Amino acid sequence: MPSKPAILIARKVFPDIVDHLRAHFEVEMNDTDDVYSPAQLIERLQGKVGALTTGSERIDAAVAAACPQLRVVANIAVGFNNFDVPALSAAGVLATNTPDVLTETTADFGFALIMATARRLTESEHFLRAGQWNRWSLDMFAGAEVHGSTLGILGMGRIGQAIARRGALGFGMKVIYHNRSRLDAATEAECRARYVDKATLLREADHLILVLPYSAENHHAIGAAEIAQMKSTATLVNIARGGIVDDAALAQALRERRIAAAGLDVFEGEPKVHPDLLTVPNVVLTPHIASATLQTRRAMAKLAADNVIAYLTEGRPITPLNAEIIGKGARE
Ligand code: DGY
Repeated sequence: MPSKPAILIARKVFPDIVDHLRAHFEVEMNDTDDVYSPAQLIERLQGKVGALTTGSERIDAAVAAACPQLRVVANIAVGFNNFDVPALSAAGVLATNTPDVLTETTADFGFALIMATARRLTESEHFLRAGQWNRWSLDMFAGAEVHGSTLGILGMGRIGQAIARRGALGFGMKVIYHNRSRLDAATEAECRARYVDKATLLREADHLILVLPYSAENHHAIGAAEIAQMKSTATLVNIARGGIVDDAALAQALRERRIAAAGLDVFEGEPKVHPDLLTVPNVVLTPHIASATLQTRRAMAKLAADNVIAYLTEGRPITPLNAEIIGKGARE
């Protein structure tokens, strides 16, 4: 019997997902949460036709060239800034991501971070845990209203839209958004969201949430100049990607109370966190967990596995990023 094609799982995933893949492939896996170095990754990918990756593994022209048998890389993430998609297309490597399965869960978390930031949840908890609570006072940890306020959304893809619905329908918020392209009228109406330019978004939002994909052109899309345009009472939440916010500028703005507070799930250079963010009190910090419910993380891993299976067995990936290469330059 001919041996099965070989694939690599670059990070620890759920055992039943590994079994699911083993039904089709010889599976080599990283059974830890340690990230392979670029050289280790290339070494492990030798002879592999497919790989399951996460945002930590950079897959670019050099990897494609060094791994000539590699036909598909499936990110266990909706974001794919770790892939150089044009380079992979040029090399004939199919790339996939995991849209849809994490939309509602991530929107829930975005809203949790808006609430925690506006209502000073972690700051007040630290105060209590430190034994500093010895009396109640009328303005103790007084935060900002969420209901009825203006929610600004930068980046209005699926997750942005799910956050808009929560804000408008659940919290009676006025929702404004800015996006590379404006949504059609029916989607705007369904999300109860109004399109504005970026300057208006910054100026009018009481709570600004970032949900846009990272690219070189939106590196530091929110820096000192943008923060200066926000209300001094506003809050800023980033669940998108580190690098979209200039973390050093944000830490300084928080320290100087140029905005009220921030909530961050993603960081430049994570898992390292800018040291200044660790010392300002008015920021809620979480370790990139916006899609982290067991159901959703399982669904993401399953979709990545199914993409590899569907492409390598039938040539039909489920959620491809560069489907245009299939039959036109894709490696066989
Ligand atoms: C995503 O899906 O992009 C999340 O940020 C996890 O990496």
